[in-house]
Amino acid sequence: MAIALVLAAGLGERLGLGRPKALAELAGRPLWQWSVDVLRRAEAIERIVIATPAEGRDGAALMASVAAISAGEVIAVPGGAVRSESVRLALDATGGGGEDDLVLVHDAARPLVALDVVEATLAAAASEGVDAAIAAAQVTDTIKQADGDGRVLRTLDRSGLWAIQTPQAFRRDALERALDVPAEVLAEATDDAWLVERTGGCVVIVPAPRENLKVTTPLDLQLAEMLLARRQATPGDLSASA
Ligand code: CTP
Ligand code: MG
Repeated sequence: MAIALVLAAGLGERLGLGRPKALAELAGRPLWQWSVDVLRRAEAIERIVIATPAEGRDGAALMASVAAISAGEVIAVPGGAVRSESVRLALDATGGGGEDDLVLVHDAARPLVALDVVEATLAAAASEGVDAAIAAAQVTDTIKQADGDGRVLRTLDRSGLWAIQTPQAFRRDALERALDVPAEVLAEATDDAWLVERTGGCVVIVPAPRENLKVTTPLDLQLAEMLLARRQATPGDLSASA
């Protein structure tokens, strides 16, 4: 069985709407709802826990709208001060699970996630010897490393570079172990797979389209809106329909 944790507890400061990003309107619906709807269509996922802003009117609004969409299958819990703390709190709220369980972690900020990427990530995480499987797009820009003065030190070989996304799927025990670290280590993690990597766990890449973008700035929100409009105009295109 798999559970999904949807991270929606961030403040959305770079989007600059003055309220949490998860509540931003995208093509007529709150941002968080797009990915939750996709996850609800994944057969392997039995429960979804959404980490919402810990306090305030917006947190309560998000909690209420989550409560309105389902009975039990989707629940909301207050998130933490940093992203991986939100993961830990959402995982705790699932009340434990079996050894073979998978946990899929997804950012509400990636509303364009496709069902096939969710399923491929879960399948890869269930493979022999794998602790985590993470969606990623191959880097298309040339990447250079520079020093603090902007002087280029080297050009990296981009054939082996991947831009990491969510969903990220974990064996439950591997994720629990990875999250069992001091708060300062959690605060350092920009993705959860790093917490598995740092203790020698096996993390594999699942190729995903760049379309699975993260809404960070107002431009990203506009792009997401355009991509959703295109998707609705071409419903026969399965690669983009989920
Ligand atoms: N997130 C979370 N708990 C936190 C911080 C972030 O659940 N304490 C979630 C966000 O809601 C988002 C995802 O992690 O879905 C990725 O984070 P990011 O894009 O940085 O979102 P925000 O933190 O909301 O944005 P900003 O950094 O601009 O404030
Ligand atoms: Mg943030």
